Amino acid sequence: MQAVTTPPSEEVLTYDVGFAEISTLPIEHPGAHDPEYRAHRNLIARLSKQFREDPQHRIPLVEYTPEETAVWQYVYDQLDAAHQRRACAQYLTAKQKLGIRRDVIPQLRDLDRQMRALVNFGFAPIEGLVETRAFLSWLGKRVMLCTQYLRHHSRPDYTPEPDIVHEIIGHIPNFTDPDFADFSQSIGKGAVIADKDQLEQLGRLYWFTVEFGLIQEGDDVKAFGAGLLSSYSELEHAFSNEVERRPFDLEEVIRTPYDYSDMQPLLFVIPSYAYLKDVTAEFIRRFGKHHDWEVAPAGVPKAVW
Ligand SMILES: [Fe+2]
Repeated sequence: MQAVTTPPSEEVLTYDVGFAEISTLPIEHPGAHDPEYRAHRNLIARLSKQFREDPQHRIPLVEYTPEETAVWQYVYDQLDAAHQRRACAQYLTAKQKLGIRRDVIPQLRDLDRQMRALVNFGFAPIEGLVETRAFLSWLGKRVMLCTQYLRHHSRPDYTPEPDIVHEIIGHIPNFTDPDFADFSQSIGKGAVIADKDQLEQLGRLYWFTVEFGLIQEGDDVKAFGAGLLSSYSELEHAFSNEVERRPFDLEEVIRTPYDYSDMQPLLFVIPSYAYLKDVTAEFIRRFGKHHDWEVAPAGVPKAVW
C-alpha cells in the first residue's frame, strides 16, 4: 500500500454525522455503509485538520474504540509469528524498541517523539491519500504523513488504502535506521525538483523499496517493505515460488511499472540500507533543477492541506 494517488471513485456515500463530512469513502469501501465507522473516521479526520491549524502542531491523541483495538490485535497476532520468520533484523529490533505491542494501538504522537529523538525524523497526521509529489516532498523535510484511522472491522485483513495499522506495523519501525531515514529524505528532496518522468521513476523506486522491498541478510532474504510487513498474504506471497526476487538494480527498478491492485510478481533485494541511500542520492543528483509544477507553500495541495 502506497500513500499516493488512487483514482477516486465517482460514487461517494454521504451520511449526516452531525458536522460537515471531511472524510469521504468510495461506495465499495468496506466501511461505506457503516454510519458509526464513518462518523468516527470523520472525527479522526477533523483531528488531523486541527493539527495543521494548531500553531504548535501537537499530534492529536486518538481514542480508539474497542472494535478498532480488536482489529489491531487481529492483525498484530496474524503478523507477529510471520515477522519472526520473514522480517529483517533491523525491523524486529525496532518494533521492540518503539514499544509496539498487541494490547494497545500506539499513538502517533508517542512514536513521533521517539523517532525525533532517535534519528530526527517525525510523523504528521493526514486524513487520507495525498498527491504523489506532495506526499514524497514531506519526506524531504524528514516527515512522513501518516493516517490515524483504522480499516473497517468487517475486513480486518484488508484495507484499500493506508491506515494506522499499515503505517505503524509497516512503515514506522524502518525509520529507526539512520540510513533508511536519510534515504527517505533523499527521495523527498528528489520529489521537490523532479520533472514528471522523474517523479514517476521516484514512485517506482519508493514502491519497490519502501513498500515492497526485500533485503539480503547473510544467506537469507528478508522483508523490509511496509506493504509486505503489514499484510500476512503479501508477506507469505513474497517468499513463494510465484514471485521472482531479483538483486536490486536502480536502473531496472525505475523502469519497471507495477500494479498496486494485485499481488506483486516481481520484487527486488537490496544489499543494505546504506547501499540504497547511496545509489538514491546519486540518482537524485542527476535531476538538476525543475520547478514546473504548483505546490502549496506547506508542500501539500491546498485541497488536502
Ligand atoms: Fe505505505
